[in-house]
Amino acid sequence: MVLNELIEVLLWDNIQKYIHFSIENTAKNLPDNEDEYYKQRDNFLLQKVKTKENFATLIDHYHQNGKAIWHGNANSQNCTTILQADIDNLFNYGSRRHGAEIAKQMETMSTTWATHLADYGKAINYRNNTDILELTIGAGLGTYAAIANLLPNNRMISVDIDYVCVRNADALAKHFNVDDRVCGLNANFWHLPFEDEVFDTVCTHYGLDESREVPTTLNEISRVLKNGGRFIAIARGNPYARHKGIFDLFDIPEQECYPLLQKARMYSGFDGLVAFAKESGLKLIDHKIYDPTKTAHYPIMYVFEKP
Ligand SMILES: C[S@@+](CC[C@H](N)C(=O)[O-])C[C@H]1O[C@@H](n2cnc3c(N)ncnc32)[C@H](O)[C@@H]1O
Repeated sequence: MVLNELIEVLLWDNIQKYIHFSIENTAKNLPDNEDEYYKQRDNFLLQKVKTKENFATLIDHYHQNGKAIWHGNANSQNCTTILQADIDNLFNYGSRRHGAEIAKQMETMSTTWATHLADYGKAINYRNNTDILELTIGAGLGTYAAIANLLPNNRMISVDIDYVCVRNADALAKHFNVDDRVCGLNANFWHLPFEDEVFDTVCTHYGLDESREVPTTLNEISRVLKNGGRFIAIARGNPYARHKGIFDLFDIPEQECYPLLQKARMYSGFDGLVAFAKESGLKLIDHKIYDPTKTAHYPIMYVFEKP
């Protein structure tokens, strides 16, 4: 199970309690009663966090004590817990038919709101004969962009901590007949299971802004990249929008959210990411800001280089 990263930061000391609550809330209310799901979630947060002052105290606490450990449980570093309900999904999701379904959905998205996808796919494949590492597969939007633009001698390994999502990458690879050059891998990007300097390119599509411990992730990216290699990321131009529902509960306005996110080692927008990346030895060499009117979280494409 993947949790909202800000909630994981705020409830760091009691995360197992929140996980139990969240499993029950999901089973009771999703997918049919989303409003009730969020009402219950917000009540839980209000009870635990209580005030704006305490919100800031909890961020300080995480800043001092939080770790790049999955759900605070060192025994489950490389895989989310696979629930009973996921077992059917594991088999269904990896099929060629499933790949065709995802590709169709993603094609539609790439012509409506996700018009950055073609640029992203090309930026990843800026050279032929490269080994690419993709961080996070999720629903497969970024994986689709990378595969749809894959040059003939490029290969890609796509990682996600959620095994169900890994199957999305395998399904897309089968559908596009590149399963000899693309595969999914179940791994945690805070502890990548690769030796140093093996990839020419690392990429991620909404991976940094939908996870916590961004500096650890960037250190790992820098470690596995060859010298001269590139890190291409798509991330939100407006990280506040992702967490607005939670910030609103505690009357935290947009201008106050950025220092809090930065302190929590989360994605806090352009300046924050460039600063974290610099600390990991990654230099911004290009970026493109996409049309803010197309989506609420208008994307930015970042191109970093490991000199
Ligand atoms: C919403 S998805 C990203 C969007 C996806 N790349 C796409 O283009 O459709 C966020 C993903 O990050 C994964 N994730 C979060 N933290 C992670 C970690 N530490 N290591 C590996 N994957 C992680 C989650 O399992 C989830 O699938």
